[in-house]
Amino acid sequence: MGCSDSDYTYLRKLVLAQSSNLIDPSRNALFETRLTPMARLAGVANLEEFVGVLRKDTRPQLHRAVAETMTINETSFFRDRLPFEMLRETVLPDLIARRRGQRRLRIWSAASSTGQEAYSMAMLLCEHFPELASWDVMIIGTDLSREVIETARAGRYRRIDVNRGLPVRMLMKYLERDGEMWEMCARAQAMCEFQELNLCAGTQSFSEMPEFDLVLLRNVLLYFSQPDRSRVFGKVRRQIATDGYLLLGNAEQAEDSTKLFTVEFATGCYVYRPANAE
Ligand SMILES: C[S@@+](CC[C@H](N)C(=O)[O-])C[C@H]1O[C@@H](n2cnc3c(N)ncnc32)[C@H](O)[C@@H]1O
Repeated sequence: MGCSDSDYTYLRKLVLAQSSNLIDPSRNALFETRLTPMARLAGVANLEEFVGVLRKDTRPQLHRAVAETMTINETSFFRDRLPFEMLRETVLPDLIARRRGQRRLRIWSAASSTGQEAYSMAMLLCEHFPELASWDVMIIGTDLSREVIETARAGRYRRIDVNRGLPVRMLMKYLERDGEMWEMCARAQAMCEFQELNLCAGTQSFSEMPEFDLVLLRNVLLYFSQPDRSRVFGKVRRQIATDGYLLLGNAEQAEDSTKLFTVEFATGCYVYRPANAE
């Protein structure tokens, strides 16, 4: 006996309630692969029995852990390459010119996963904008999943991770080898800070966040329903400076949020600006 349709429906609703992630019924097998190890840790033999445990045990920690285990954390250094070229050629020179008075930049890697996106930004800034060394620059990475935030904070990566997207020259310059692992250099680590944050939680959830000059909201919207995406756009808009920028993933668009953002095209990528930006 495996899980019944009602067990899968229960798991789908649990994940949706905890993380707003939609899991299509065609991907039921993912529940088996991801949650069976968790079931064993909980002392039961299989997923079906684990669903029984979850139905009885309504502690938020266990339900939240299930939702975190179901997240897709795929990422890499300089993912998709072109957006980082666009940032270097267009967005960052403009932002730096605008912020020369305050000498302060705030960048948000929303849904940062294990931190490669935030550290790619840090390396890009160090490599191409040396004047920022004397500025107050902070890159904040946030994610729903505690586990990926811990990895991001440690800034330590396996060979397989550094072999994806990171030019050898940058690897040698910005990471240090420690046995089988590679560790981000102290300068890049000092520029990045990571914290847990559910993008879909109530409006209060962003209250501790500063105003950002640039937000990277990449490859996460696809997991949300259309109404959740709309709410996230609204909340993210309120965190962006009126002359700031929003970058989405390659396959993502700001859909019906045209009242909030205008779209510009530069270096082969779309970039969003708050509507009414100067
Ligand atoms: C595919 S990764 C994208 C990582 C990175 N932005 C990139 O483009 O390479 C998606 C991340 O979104 C996170 N995530 C999913 N739902 C979330 C939510 N409701 N709030 C915050 N992060 C969420 C997942 O934990 C996962 O690490």
